[in-house]
Amino acid sequence: MFGSGRVSRIAHLSDVHTLEKERGAYGWGVKFVSIHRPLDAEARLRKFGRALGLAKAMGAHHVVVSGDLTEMGTDAQFRAFADVLDASGVAPESVTLVPGNHDAYTTGDAWTRALAGPLRAYAPSSAARHGQVVERGGVVILPVDTSRFQNVALSGGELHPAAAEALTRRIQDATFRGTPVVVVTHHPPFSHARRLWQFIDGLRGATRLVDVLAKSPHVQLLHGHMHRALDRLIGGIGDSRVFGAPATVEDREGHPRIRLYEVGPNGLESAGIVTG
Ligand SMILES: [Fe+2]
Ligand SMILES: [Fe+2]
Repeated sequence: MFGSGRVSRIAHLSDVHTLEKERGAYGWGVKFVSIHRPLDAEARLRKFGRALGLAKAMGAHHVVVSGDLTEMGTDAQFRAFADVLDASGVAPESVTLVPGNHDAYTTGDAWTRALAGPLRAYAPSSAARHGQVVERGGVVILPVDTSRFQNVALSGGELHPAAAEALTRRIQDATFRGTPVVVVTHHPPFSHARRLWQFIDGLRGATRLVDVLAKSPHVQLLHGHMHRALDRLIGGIGDSRVFGAPATVEDREGHPRIRLYEVGPNGLESAGIVTG
């Protein structure tokens, strides 16, 4: 099912918020950013494993995990995340990962290190560099890193100007005309109406991203960060093109949830949330 042939079904998971198993590692920062979530590393890993199992059972050809892969972006958390992914049996080339704000709370280069370390098998299909293109069985996936190193009191993101430029070039690439194009980011592409909230939680560069999407009606975007399923329009017109997924960390134990899409001639069509 994974790794060969046409991609006609995509599973979307998000916000795994992996913890390392060594409890002694939980400092005040983890307790602060995980304030509404039990610090149960094993349970979080089980939830992720079950969500991946559900994606396989539902016959997904590709899996997208849209950021906040870890709680703090420590090496141990990325290792624990990779261990579950490796054990899932999903082919690495059929997995697209992007980092979220939580993945950059410890250092600015955690994601780069993870891609060179425990997640290296997933680097070619993930947000490893600006302008990354993942072509899989009739779908073009453009994973974009919107994470930035910042204080745990902030949860925003940044579309780096070089990333925006590379993304725009890819979106406008004539060779992809007639092929579904799906951008994957952690942060949703919209700005908050309130300036203070935009400063705390907003995506810098969102205006540029929305502009590009508005000019490219064939492009859709999958995101995380909001911890719930969302379907939104671009510019208030047309069909929903921006889709958010629920947070795996908030699944009830033993009841995984994934978001599924069928790939049709006009791109992704939401098949809703599937619960195991
Ligand atoms: Fe999150
Ligand atoms: Fe987030």
